[in-house]
Amino acid sequence: MKMSKDTQLAMAAERAREVDARLLRNALPGVASQVSTARSSSARTLLDSRWATNSERLASLDFVTSGDVLSDFKFIDLFAGIGGMRIPFDELGGECVFTSELDEHARSVYEANFGADHVMNTDVTSVDDCPEIVPDHDLVLAGFPCQPFSHAGKKLGFEDTRGTLFFSIANIVKAKQPRVLLLENVRGLKSHDGGNTLRVILGSLKELGYEAHTDVLNARDFGLPQNRNRLFIVAIRSDLLGASEYAFPEPTVSRGDLSVAMALDPSCDSDALTISDRLWDGHQQRRARNQASGKGFGYQIVSPDSPYTATISARYYKDGSEILIAQEGLNPRLLSVREAGNLQGFPSNFQFHESKKQAYKQLGNAVPVNVIRALAAGLSKYLNA
Ligand SMILES: C[S@@+](CC[C@H](N)C(=O)[O-])C[C@H]1O[C@@H](n2cnc3c(N)ncnc32)[C@H](O)[C@@H]1O
Repeated sequence: MKMSKDTQLAMAAERAREVDARLLRNALPGVASQVSTARSSSARTLLDSRWATNSERLASLDFVTSGDVLSDFKFIDLFAGIGGMRIPFDELGGECVFTSELDEHARSVYEANFGADHVMNTDVTSVDDCPEIVPDHDLVLAGFPCQPFSHAGKKLGFEDTRGTLFFSIANIVKAKQPRVLLLENVRGLKSHDGGNTLRVILGSLKELGYEAHTDVLNARDFGLPQNRNRLFIVAIRSDLLGASEYAFPEPTVSRGDLSVAMALDPSCDSDALTISDRLWDGHQQRRARNQASGKGFGYQIVSPDSPYTATISARYYKDGSEILIAQEGLNPRLLSVREAGNLQGFPSNFQFHESKKQAYKQLGNAVPVNVIRALAAGLSKYLNA
């Protein structure tokens, strides 16, 4: 039976309401109710007046702005954490139109710093069957968890990614065809599952019509005294001029110019950060055991003069073993949360979570902002093309 145009339209409107309700259910309760109020008064004005606008928000943060401000590109921030990837694209004048972050503690920090002028999606897989409800955008940012793909599919393309979080990204890309994707992962993604994981990711990006480029960048080459290597995938829609000629940024700072002192805060409460005798003994005993069994170094200690620290991880809050700061005549100390933020390049007035455990964990998961800033500068021409 043929449906009338009115019935078709009514059904489409009903479906749109359903997916909207799903997004709202996933959003933080407070924001969800404001969004529904705003929608029922048929405008975003309520949201805009309640939350700082983009420019007010930027003015309140001491971001380093490049002279090259673009104002008319939109981006989405998936697996957003506390928004490290977002900062440099805000600086360029981009507008974030969709954010997805599963962890409520990370979302609260994100909202405290960036406002909440759009619905915060929680689980990105909730839009797997309705990617069209994600607002149109030019750029996708995603630091996604590394998961193996099934070996059953042999095509090494989009269909092989089903059931993984990468599928959620690729599925939005398929529906929305943004200009550029910037994906971040651990360096180990290159060899993960014998190289199959990266092969499938690159194969599916190709199938979706993108020229993908990969490189490992180290925070030390971009002004941060932290040895942090991360794999970046930049995928540019093949029809854009120069998509295949994209070049990753060159180092912006000479490694020899860095020292750990650059990240340290002389006004931190070093007494409170000094580790207990018990913890210090535990670290030393573990190191002795590790050395005897050839299992690595255990704790790592640096002084302000050291050129760099080890990589801060999401487990730093447990015992700080990967970065201890030497103190004369005292047990070593942990980094303060602010110092951990400095190591990752967060602006000096960025507000971190009040729980130290959450703050260290979120910073260990974050991207080095300086590296993203250098990447953003090189991508602006594709966003503006
Ligand atoms: C490596 S962190 C990303 C860091 C972030 N890009 C930044 O700039 O600071 C990965 C994030 O993905 C989030 N996540 C994991 N599964 C998710 C899902 N299904 N939907 C949304 N976020 C998810 C985690 O909570 C975590 O914060």
